[in-house]
Amino acid sequence: MEEYIYCKACGYIMAKSHFTGRCPACGIPGEALFEAYTKQLSPGRRFLLDQHIHPIAVHFPQVLILITLLLPLIALVIGNPLREQLQIVAMLAIFVLPLTVLGGICTGLFDGRLRFRRVTTPLLVRKIIASVILQLLSLIILGVYLSSGFSGNAVWIIAALSAVGTACSIYLGRTGATMFSSFLPG
Ligand code: HEM
Ligand SMILES: [Zn+2]
Repeated sequence: MEEYIYCKACGYIMAKSHFTGRCPACGIPGEALFEAYTKQLSPGRRFLLDQHIHPIAVHFPQVLILITLLLPLIALVIGNPLREQLQIVAMLAIFVLPLTVLGGICTGLFDGRLRFRRVTTPLLVRKIIASVILQLLSLIILGVYLSSGFSGNAVWIIAALSAVGTACSIYLGRTGATMFSSFLPG
């Protein structure tokens, strides 16, 4: 079984076989600063958590919600042909956003179960609620776009909904990042 060590200076955990004399995270040199990492995780769970499936997947909705917020507004103050090009990119983002939020939710539920064995913990329940709000917002944004495009008030409604969505996305990220070094052993 792979042995793990952790850096006493910064807490970084790594496979012992990957150690090259200094901490890859904080750069501190010297074997003395490393200690055996004893919190036991089964190799299967360790492997799956190390793939960072959810943290990678959530980059997509996080970027797309920002595009949905900013590009239609920038397009308002810019002349053609750039305006139309920005609106095309924003339209694509609006179409793909709901799917990527769904991806974030599925991978989040998977990683949450992997880390804590259940997804009914207080922090995860808050994340699930924020995710559902973000999913609904992404669908409403799509609906507004399909019915009115970026004309008239629609652009402002899309901007307002995207601003709330961005707040949800920031909340989801900040809450998620606090859980990186915690998990139920076993
Ligand atoms: C059912 C919903 C969700 C659950 C249960 C959940 C759970 C988790 C968990 C357990 C982590 C810790 C890292 C890991 O084990 O992967 C995490 C991190 C994170 N989550 Fe979620 N999550 C959910 C939805 C979302 C959504 C929809 C987003 C973004 C739109 C998001 C953004 C993040 C971010 C940014 C991190 C930190 C990643 C990093 O700092 O690189 N989560 N989440
Ligand atoms: Zn370190």
